[in-house]
Amino acid sequence: MKRVRLHDKQFEISIPEPEIQAIVKKLADELNNDLNGKDVIFLAILNGSFMFAADLFRNINFHCQITFLKLASYSGSESSGTVKQLIGFNEDITAKTVIILEDIVDTGNTLSKIHKQLSYLKPAEIKIATFLYKPDAYKKEHPIDYVGIKIPNDFVVGYGLDYDGFGRNLRDLYKVVQD
Ligand code: IMP
Ligand code: MG
Repeated sequence: MKRVRLHDKQFEISIPEPEIQAIVKKLADELNNDLNGKDVIFLAILNGSFMFAADLFRNINFHCQITFLKLASYSGSESSGTVKQLIGFNEDITAKTVIILEDIVDTGNTLSKIHKQLSYLKPAEIKIATFLYKPDAYKKEHPIDYVGIKIPNDFVVGYGLDYDGFGRNLRDLYKVVQD
C-alpha cells in the first residue's frame, strides 16, 4: 500500500486519482443537467478547492462564470471569538445562481459563515457543491446540494487538501494512518 509521510503523520491511499476524476466528472454532469440556462457563478473557496474547482470547471459545458475567494481569520478587538471575513471578493452576484465549491465539508462552520455573508449580496440562490463530505462531523442545517463522495471522519490530504500546508500536490487522496 502506497504511503506518504507529512510532518509527524503517516497517510495511506484512500481514493486513487482515476476514481477522483470519475467522481468529479459525475458531479459536473449533475451540475450540467440542473443548471443549464441559469445565470451561474461558481465560487471556489481557497486554498483547498483549487484543484477540484479546476477539474470540475473543465467539465462544465454551459455558459457561466467562476471566481475565487479566501477567508481571512483575525481576532477581532471587540469580539472574543475568531472572525472570518471574505477577502478578494468584489463580484456582483445579485440575482445570480451562486454555486459554492468546497474541497471538503467537515463541521460546516466555514460554509455557514460564507453562506451568511453571501446572502447579504442578494443572489437568486446559493447552492453548495463539495468534493468530500463528512456527514458524521457535520453540525449545520444547510443542505449540501451536490456531494462528490461521503467519507468517514478521518483526516485526509491530497488533491488540494493539506496537513499544515503540505500534501496539496498529491494526485490521490490519502487518509491518516492511526497509530
Ligand atoms: P469545516 O468548517 O469544519 O466544515 O471545515 C472546513 C475546512 O477545514 C475545509 O475547507 C478544510 O480546509 C479543513 N478540513 C476539514 N477536514 C479536513 C481534512 O480531513 N483534511 C484537510 N483539511 C480539512
Ligand atoms: Mg477549504
